[in-house]
Amino acid sequence: MEKVLVYGSGGRDHCLCDKYIESRHVEKVYFAPGNPGVKYTNKGRRGYIEQVPIRDFKAVREFCLENQVSLVDVGSENPLDEGLVDVLNKAGLATVGPRAKYVQMENDRVFTKTLLAAAGVPMAEYRAFHDAETAKRYVRNIGYQVVVKANGLAAGKGAIVCDDVTEAEAAIDTLMVKKKFGKSGDTCVIEERKYGNEISFFAYLDGEHFLPLRMFARDYKPACDPGDKETIKLLGGNLNTGGTGCCCPHDLATPGLSNRIIREIVSPTVNAVYNKLGWNYKGVLYFGLNIDEHGDLCVFEINVRHGDPEAQVILRKLQTDLYEIAMATWEGTLDEVKQKWNKNCYVDVIAMAGKARSPSGGWFKAYPGRYGEGYKIEGLENIERGIAIFYSGVDEHPERGLVTKGGRVLHVVGSSPVFEEAVDKAYRNIERLAFLDHRNNNENCLRYQKTIGGVQ
Ligand code: GLY
Repeated sequence: MEKVLVYGSGGRDHCLCDKYIESRHVEKVYFAPGNPGVKYTNKGRRGYIEQVPIRDFKAVREFCLENQVSLVDVGSENPLDEGLVDVLNKAGLATVGPRAKYVQMENDRVFTKTLLAAAGVPMAEYRAFHDAETAKRYVRNIGYQVVVKANGLAAGKGAIVCDDVTEAEAAIDTLMVKKKFGKSGDTCVIEERKYGNEISFFAYLDGEHFLPLRMFARDYKPACDPGDKETIKLLGGNLNTGGTGCCCPHDLATPGLSNRIIREIVSPTVNAVYNKLGWNYKGVLYFGLNIDEHGDLCVFEINVRHGDPEAQVILRKLQTDLYEIAMATWEGTLDEVKQKWNKNCYVDVIAMAGKARSPSGGWFKAYPGRYGEGYKIEGLENIERGIAIFYSGVDEHPERGLVTKGGRVLHVVGSSPVFEEAVDKAYRNIERLAFLDHRNNNENCLRYQKTIGGVQ
């Protein structure tokens, strides 16, 4: 039996741990640096999943060698960008995730868009800018709505969707002048805003073949529900998140649409990666897609890892052994993998940090604005069997036990063969949880969106 290490600390990474331990080949999953939430799960209590709070790459390498870890899955883009896979591969360790050089697919939108355009992959119109004034002049003159995007890594939050020129100019300031995402805002890409339905699609690449996951998810990105005027006012226009919920299957999912996505987008992209760039890319590619009212597809982003929260629903639905997919990715045998999916629908509603008292007596607005931390998480013992909880922004406190430590705190994933029941289960259970605001009479400061599962 094998040991796997998942490197990361968020909900996607917890979900990867959970999926690996279900493998018939795996006896133990280490979660590094991980988060203490896993200790509060059955698999954590029984020692199947164990947090190993090491972050340093060389320490991870030594840990894997000493503990006979046979595979490391690097879940998020920053350690990939910083070269964790390169460090581990040099020591002969098997990995899932691209080498640092190949993270350019995610950290340099201009590079990827140029590559995809040459490969004939449909994309929204775009232009790149290196200074804010020229970018503002451009948005004042083009006459259509845009999305303003940081060119580098921004934890899935570097795209600001704008309704008008004023919002576009403010977005340019946020990225290029105020540098909300640091150097990622040195260059920004201004892209035509597309209307329609978002689709998140994934493929594993082994350097020679690819395995497109024929199951896609709907990610809910806005910070709050369209009609939630109170929260919209509270957040003051800062409505951009990395996702507040997700569901799978997507309401548009059909075998015919999967075929089109593979033929029009995934296949030419992978061909460009292997044959034009000559890259030996081993890992996941994430395709953020739009399908418009005419049924036309286009790519609006490519990432080098699973989506968060998409992984928390897609991996739950996957029946194929994840360890077998991962080893085929490493060994170059993805052409031999058969994918299977169970019959359930999965709905992930994210528990976020809401309005709470700040130590100065004022208020923290709520995620994705400023939020407080350290709120006791209450009600976990009331969660129904069959509901999956994946931890994201959590910590342990000497008196309060498991507490919040982030804006997106945990994921409540409901499942059922009937979609509406999966939605009901997720909501019924998130309502059993509370984050106690100790500066405000233990009022509940947990917030969540009420329209996850609906069509946006
Ligand atoms: N769900 C968006 C992302 O993972 O980037």
